[in-house]
Amino acid sequence: MTIFSEVESAVQSYARSFPVVFDQARGSHIYDGEGNAYLDFLAGAGSLNYGHNNPVLKKALINYIENDGITHGLDMHSKAKAHFLSVFRERIMAPRDLDYRMQFTGPTGTNAVEAALKLARKVTGRNDVISFTNGFHGVTLGAVAATGNQHHRGGAGVPLSDVTRMPFCGYHGRDVDTLKMIDKLLKDPSSGVATPAAFIVETVQGEGGLNVAEMDWLKGLEKLCRKHEILLIVDDIQAGCGRTGTFFSFEPAGIKPDIVTLSKSLSGYGLPFAVVLLAPELDEWLPGEHNGTFRGNNHAFVTAAAAIEHYWADDRFEKEIQAKSALVTKRLKAIRDQLGETELRLKGRGMMQGLECRSGEIAGKVSQAAFERGMIIETAGNYDQVVKVFCPLTISDEELNKGLDILADSFSAVFKELSLSQAS
Ligand SMILES: Cc1ncc(COP(=O)(O)O)c(C=O)c1O
Repeated sequence: MTIFSEVESAVQSYARSFPVVFDQARGSHIYDGEGNAYLDFLAGAGSLNYGHNNPVLKKALINYIENDGITHGLDMHSKAKAHFLSVFRERIMAPRDLDYRMQFTGPTGTNAVEAALKLARKVTGRNDVISFTNGFHGVTLGAVAATGNQHHRGGAGVPLSDVTRMPFCGYHGRDVDTLKMIDKLLKDPSSGVATPAAFIVETVQGEGGLNVAEMDWLKGLEKLCRKHEILLIVDDIQAGCGRTGTFFSFEPAGIKPDIVTLSKSLSGYGLPFAVVLLAPELDEWLPGEHNGTFRGNNHAFVTAAAAIEHYWADDRFEKEIQAKSALVTKRLKAIRDQLGETELRLKGRGMMQGLECRSGEIAGKVSQAAFERGMIIETAGNYDQVVKVFCPLTISDEELNKGLDILADSFSAVFKELSLSQAS
């Protein structure tokens, strides 16, 4: 263990919450070097929607490697890329009546966000972008400027500019229509708010604490964009790829964003991969204007295509996710009802739900109690106060119930300890 403290930078974070050395992983479980199994309710922060070492994807990748398929090819054409593009067009875009060009960016979510912001600014000739309270879009300079979290913003070391923050859906309570407020600010020539190039929004704020944008709000946001000729960017890096129950998280709202960013579970296997989907008329990029040595990862093309072919050929997987989401809602409600609505609040949508505690300290204790009981689960939110259920979408009902049993037990233990310490 000392190798990590001696050599690795202090910037490590998850390793602090779960200080063991992991060695193997399969499906919804991850194992440490001593053979202890942990149920994984963190799932690579949403990068492992199809579980660890998914056998279907692993087989496709091993076959490709054994056949000496191209591993690295910059952005040159490859058979693997052609196959992925075809599968994505036929199985994901066409059935949803979507028509996007796909840009391969450097293989991290934040690089896809950088590209999306650059493109919106380039196409509109405007420099300002509106992002939302509690939004998280990554930590490179352009993306972190659109991110709300002060902890991440503080690491920038330069002024973060050209982004205006507006209140997300429900930020001032469900009775305040934040879109009405934004519309007024955009209409008023002396409000001090310039017409932005774009809005960038998450439909469910993953890192921000599982805040959900209502479907009507998303529809209204799209309408506002059309009215003021502003581009709509949906950052679907965390909420996309099935996490909320549909491939794109915005599908139930019936909206068509101008630009969509995807990463995390797009490769399906945990391989680094990120893309920007852009309306064809926005494709004003000059060759190589936004590039990256690792843009378009051929191994990720192979596993991403295999994941889409296996899981998204029909609506079976969607239905499974929706059934599991209903189970999570039911079980989280039971925990909340047992401990009291003043103590816990249910948050999120689909397979990104959680329980908000009164403080980050309490949520952190629940995460630690779960770890002691053999489960990895993290917190999110402006005060890290939300315990976030984020297991693979492929988890069995039995494993899901087991994880939720551990969670219920962890909440009970922490609340018991708290009431004992208050009594003494
Ligand atoms: C919505 C959203 N956008 C962007 C990012 C940044 O992705 P990455 O960490 O791969 O740079 C994240 C990461 O959590 C995210 O949740």
